[in-house]
Amino acid sequence: MTNKLRYFVANWKMFGHLNSVNSLNKVINFKKKNKKTKNLKIIYCPPFTLIHPFIQKLKNTSIMTGAQNCSFTSKYGPPTGSINAKMIKSLKCEYVILGHSEKRAKGEKDNIINKKIISALKCKLKVIFCIGETSIQKKRRLTKKILLSQIIRGLKKVKNKKNILIAYEPVWSIGSGVIPKIEDLENTTNYLKLFLSNKMKFKNPKVLYGGSVSPKNISILKKITNLDGFLIGGASQNSDKLIDIIKKTFN
Ligand code: 13P
Repeated sequence: MTNKLRYFVANWKMFGHLNSVNSLNKVINFKKKNKKTKNLKIIYCPPFTLIHPFIQKLKNTSIMTGAQNCSFTSKYGPPTGSINAKMIKSLKCEYVILGHSEKRAKGEKDNIINKKIISALKCKLKVIFCIGETSIQKKRRLTKKILLSQIIRGLKKVKNKKNILIAYEPVWSIGSGVIPKIEDLENTTNYLKLFLSNKMKFKNPKVLYGGSVSPKNISILKKITNLDGFLIGGASQNSDKLIDIIKKTFN
């Protein structure tokens, strides 16, 4: 279990200013000094404004940086306020989160997410592809159907799956303090991995869980043997909490 859990993705959402860069010191030191963390990947996904300062700060460390979104096109052009994968890659950023439910809730559809994924992969970014059901869909027992449909539509015409991580984030769990029942999460992760391998031609699918991950519930979540890591929102903005989550995962 502990050998398998390797990804800790910190999604800072719309938080942070230039001085927040200093809060990374603790995590950098922790990662450097702690041998147990050698095989794990910490990926910071700050807002666009902080990508460059984070990259500078994390230079010469093994901690990586990702963006939280990108345009559907990698061509330069008029969409005011947009940033494309080519621009993100030019900062030496390595990852991008796509399909997050907070974007889906604002009208982002599967076909646009699909274009974004294709564009990001073309620009050599690794994609953290978020999927998840709403509470109504869960109540109607539509979870599996929704997840499969998001995967199929989001990955249409995507041939090489090597640089895609799947992040299962039930919408009802994000920011609510509520996490799924362990057996449900274990089941869903299994189901997703089988589908990804058998039907979507993933060689070694990686599935992360996101939604209210915190130092309080990590000792429960770490029991889920088939997960490959966590996508952490609120708690990741506090270095002590992030370190606590990582430490408890490996204890
Ligand atoms: P919270 O950890 O704040 O619930 O957010 C999860 C999330 O949306 C990560 O992408």
